[in-house]
Amino acid sequence: MQLPAHGANASALYKAMGLTMPEKVIDLSENVNAFGLPAAVKEAWPKLIDQVSRYPHEQAEPFRSLAAKSHQVIPQQVLVTNGAAEGLMVLAQHFKGQDILLLEPSFSEYKRTLQQQNCRIHSIVATDITCYQFDLDALHRQLQQANVCYICNPNNPTGVVTEQSWIEALIKAYPTCIFVVDEAFMDWTDETQSVVPLIKHYANVIVVRSMTKMFAMAGVRLGYLLGQQVERLRASLPHWNVSQLAIELGLICLNEQKFSKNSRDYSEQLLGKMKQYFHSIDCQYTDSRANYLLFQLPKNYNAEHFFLYLLERGIVLRHTKNYEGLYGKWFRIAVKTEEIWQQARKEMDDYVQNYSLLSP
Ligand SMILES: Cc1ncc(COP(=O)(O)O)c(C=O)c1O
Repeated sequence: MQLPAHGANASALYKAMGLTMPEKVIDLSENVNAFGLPAAVKEAWPKLIDQVSRYPHEQAEPFRSLAAKSHQVIPQQVLVTNGAAEGLMVLAQHFKGQDILLLEPSFSEYKRTLQQQNCRIHSIVATDITCYQFDLDALHRQLQQANVCYICNPNNPTGVVTEQSWIEALIKAYPTCIFVVDEAFMDWTDETQSVVPLIKHYANVIVVRSMTKMFAMAGVRLGYLLGQQVERLRASLPHWNVSQLAIELGLICLNEQKFSKNSRDYSEQLLGKMKQYFHSIDCQYTDSRANYLLFQLPKNYNAEHFFLYLLERGIVLRHTKNYEGLYGKWFRIAVKTEEIWQQARKEMDDYVQNYSLLSP
């Protein structure tokens, strides 16, 4: 049975599992902001119709300059892309045939895009999933052979934030290795561990950012790369790779700091409650600081059965069968709203109370 490789694909998941999809589904397999689009986007929407006929600026200005200003870098250090996904694709093309180290478990698109470019992929799997820790001797051995190393921070799927100083020590120690740091979810944190401030000191770091998650813009496709040399990658992109609508929406969203802060505060508080619940039922869960977390039921439960049970009740978790080192035993759950969480929690509670393998 081949399950969808990403979340946010409930109908394909039900189909692959041979299940009828209930009328009402709570999709906790995707991580976009449950608050939806900022109100400012909705207000501006009628006026944006006039932009549809315009060709976009080839460097996605003025979005590029505003993104540069908000990260305190120069515009030439920002390459705007059609979602972070396009950034990952253009990077993989650039690394064609090279030796790449992936810190796993992590976002599956790294492997997919790199395999397309015949890269030799090496991976190191976290020795502790809950706090995303690695065997340091093994990591250093691997880095000596690597041309490029991908680090997802906060990591998808664990949500754990790796400290900036830890990443900086690697960037410094391996100046010939390029470090791609995917910060698609960094705007769900206080940003203190972002490596963007390191860009001015090191040429071997490239940061990937996405507008998708915080601003609920998955359908718009807007992201960017930051780094000293990213402008060089433009040659491999289509001339108008970012639409005029994406540029306009991105401009509005980057000015929505209050919206981001409210979303972050709400999510952080709910994440705390979710962790308390998982603790109370003896689950293992990750030390996440993003808008999702990973958890694993205690050993006396059957993970497959649990996943199916929730699907039948319209609760969709993100399976982990295509993540290195997780083997489908862990589940990723999005932090949405209190109401949604209470519904999911009720179904989980019923399961935990009734389906222990140790029950008489
Ligand atoms: C870690 C990570 N990086 C990048 C992306 C791609 O983001 P975008 O929607 O901007 O293409 C995703 C999407 O799920 C992601 O989880």
